[in-house]
Amino acid sequence: MLASLYPVVRPLLFALEAEHAHDLTLGALALLSRLGWLGAPLTASSNLSRRIMGIDFPHPVGLAAGLDKDGRAIDGLAALGFGFIEIGTVTPLAQKGNPMPRMFRLQQAHAIINRMGFNNGGLDAFLANVRRARFRGVLGLNIGKNATTPAERAIEDYLIGLRAVYAHASYVTVNISSPNTHGLRAMQEGDAFVRLLAALKEEQRRLGEAHRRYVPLAVKIAPDLDEPAVRQIAEQLRAHAIDGVIATNTTTDRSKVLGMRYANENGGLSGAPLLEASTSVIRQLKAELGESLPIIGVGGITCGNDALDKLSAGAKLVQLYSGLIYRGPALIKECLRAIENAQPT
Ligand SMILES: Cc1cc2nc3c(=O)[nH]c(=O)nc-3n(C[C@H](O)[C@H](O)[C@H](O)COP(=O)(O)O)c2cc1C
Repeated sequence: MLASLYPVVRPLLFALEAEHAHDLTLGALALLSRLGWLGAPLTASSNLSRRIMGIDFPHPVGLAAGLDKDGRAIDGLAALGFGFIEIGTVTPLAQKGNPMPRMFRLQQAHAIINRMGFNNGGLDAFLANVRRARFRGVLGLNIGKNATTPAERAIEDYLIGLRAVYAHASYVTVNISSPNTHGLRAMQEGDAFVRLLAALKEEQRRLGEAHRRYVPLAVKIAPDLDEPAVRQIAEQLRAHAIDGVIATNTTTDRSKVLGMRYANENGGLSGAPLLEASTSVIRQLKAELGESLPIIGVGGITCGNDALDKLSAGAKLVQLYSGLIYRGPALIKECLRAIENAQPT
């Protein structure tokens, strides 16, 4: 129902400032699902089901992090037909994020620039929402650090996040690739990266024993990495037995949108202009990692073929964000149809 409604609603939403449109849509989804007006979330398996990171996914098309940072509309989003849902990024303490406006539509490019800066209600509010949700499908919980936490204490924020969300997550994503928190991306490099992975892995082992349940860890990386950097990341992910890698977050590169309205706004660019860069990181990761750990592909999927490209490059699952803003929930079905048609019969 919502997929066919979206083309009618979209011009109204696009007439609003981007963040207001976003808040309104999320609020409407939460309300409609509370009123029982949306169908039941999809949890049954399909012929596209797969087991990745030890988790059974009903199909490989999921929601990317950042659309529902606080987990306000988990059930409403699930009813759109995603195979899995990732919420967050959540930080230990609530924080306002950057001043508005901080989200911009580059319409001609089917793109978005955002510098939200992890605006969120903190772990307590996040977990209250997770507990309230009826969704029993695959739920990824994405953790980050507070803006005011100094770099030398960043690992503590991730450990606080991991401990808090562990029991509630199907998998936990460690976001070290947002361009909008000062110094965050430096955690993808060198010693800082090694120390972070070692600390997370040790905490995962401890929590696994305490809860008698193994919750996989996925690390989300940036598209703005050169080949040696991707190689080093792949080596360390493997060395630390991390369970998955999500590629990629938004880009700081503007070469594909030069001269367009809002192109000079600071922040991360997502949507169609990100497709190639993010898929090329997936391709390199796949070459480095082989089958040792699965890749979740995200960045610039705006049609079914884009999703197929990610899978052909080596991803086992894909996630959507900006494409949903431009195409609405019909994009999910389109991706599924393209993947289904490409499957050997
Ligand atoms: C407005 C906005 C907010 C985002 N917030 C987050 C976030 O909090 N955590 C995160 O890991 N990724 C976040 N992302 C990145 C997306 O999850 C995704 O990696 C990126 O947008 C590329 O996918 P896309 O081209 O399909 O949008 C955000 C993206 C957008 C557009």
